Amino acid sequence: MARPRLPSAEAIFPYLQRIDTARWYSNFGPLLSEFEARLAARFPAGAEVVTVANATQVLILTLKAMGLPAGGYVAIPAWTFVATAHAVIQAGLRPWFVDVDPDTWMMAPDAIESLPAAVRDDLVAVIPVCAFGALGDLGAWRRFREETGVPVLLDAAAAFDALRDADLPAVVSLHATKALGLGEGGFLVTDDHDLALSVRQLSTFGFQGSRESQVPATNAKLSEYAAAVGLAALDSWEADRLQFARAAQHLRISLIDQPKVRFQPGWGSEWVTSVCNVRVPDGSAPAVAAALQAEGVETRQWWGRGCHISPAFADCGRGDLRHTDRLGASVVGLPFAIDLSVPEIRRIAAALGRALAEA
Ligand SMILES: Cc1ncc(COP(=O)(O)O)c(C=O)c1O
Repeated sequence: MARPRLPSAEAIFPYLQRIDTARWYSNFGPLLSEFEARLAARFPAGAEVVTVANATQVLILTLKAMGLPAGGYVAIPAWTFVATAHAVIQAGLRPWFVDVDPDTWMMAPDAIESLPAAVRDDLVAVIPVCAFGALGDLGAWRRFREETGVPVLLDAAAAFDALRDADLPAVVSLHATKALGLGEGGFLVTDDHDLALSVRQLSTFGFQGSRESQVPATNAKLSEYAAAVGLAALDSWEADRLQFARAAQHLRISLIDQPKVRFQPGWGSEWVTSVCNVRVPDGSAPAVAAALQAEGVETRQWWGRGCHISPAFADCGRGDLRHTDRLGASVVGLPFAIDLSVPEIRRIAAALGRALAEA
C-alpha cells in the first residue's frame, strides 16, 4: 500500500560522523540549525522555520502561541486527518467541522461566512487543510484574514513540495509517510518572527535565553539525529521529487482510459506527494476497495469517512457535511511509492479497471 523510502544509512553516515565529532546531540545543535536554515531557504526571504517533534505538536503549540481565547471555536474541514481536530482540543479550543468544496476537497472561506451566528461570534481561528498535499487558494485565505481579522493557520501536513509561501503560518509534517520524511518530525514556517519565537519557546520548556521557564510549556524538540536524517533527505530531495512525479505520471497514463477515475487537480504534475488518492463514482469506494483487495491490491482510506466520524469528536459541532460524506464514500487511496515500478502500476490499473466495471 505504502512503501516509504527515507535516506539510506550510507547517506546519513557523514552527518552522524559530524554528531560524533561535535558531541552535541540535542537542544538546537549545529545540524538542526543547518536543517532549519535549509528548509527556510525554500521560502521567500524573512520566512522562519521552527522544527518540532511532529506536525500535531506544531499545530498545538502554534495555536497556543497565537494566544487565542480559551474555549473558542476553530473552524476546520471535516475532510482531514484526525490530528487537526486533536490539536484544536489539546490547545484548549473547540473544533467546528465545516464542509469542503467537492472539486478541490478543501474548505473555502465562503464556508466560514455561512457558519451559525453563535459559532461565528465565538470563532477564534480557522485551520484550512491542504488536502493530501494540494495547496488550495491561499490568496483567498489571506484576503479572509485581512477582511475578518480572524487568524488563519494552514495545516499543510502533506504539502512539503507545494508550499513555498510563508505569509500564512503553515505546519508541515515530516512523518515517514510524507514526501520528505524523517520518521517523526514537523515544522512551522511563518514570516511572523514573534510567533516563531513563541513556538520555539513552547517546544523547549518555556525557556528563552535563560534557565527560568517563562511560560507553561512542553518538550517537543527534534534531536541532532533527526536533523541528520533531514539533511540527508534534503540532499536527495530534487531527485526524489522527480521520482515521485515519474511514478505519478505513469499511474495517470495507465488510467487514461478510465473516465470514472479522477485525480486531484495538479497531482503529480504541478506538485508531488507521497500518496495517491483517486475519486471513483459516488458511493462506490467501499466496493472498489473490496474488489481490489480480492485481487491482492491493498487500498487505504487515509482520512476514513471524514474526521467528524471518529467517536473522539462526537461532541464537536458541525454544519451540513454532505460533500465530505460523499468524499468519504468515493475517495480511495491506491498503492503508491516513490519507486513504484511499471509492472506494479500496470497491475494496479488493470485491477482498478475490473473493480470499476463491477462497482
Ligand atoms: C492533515 C494532517 N494534519 C496533521 C497531521 C499530523 O502529522 P504528524 O504525523 O507529523 O503529527 C497529518 C498526518 O498525516 C495530516 O495528514
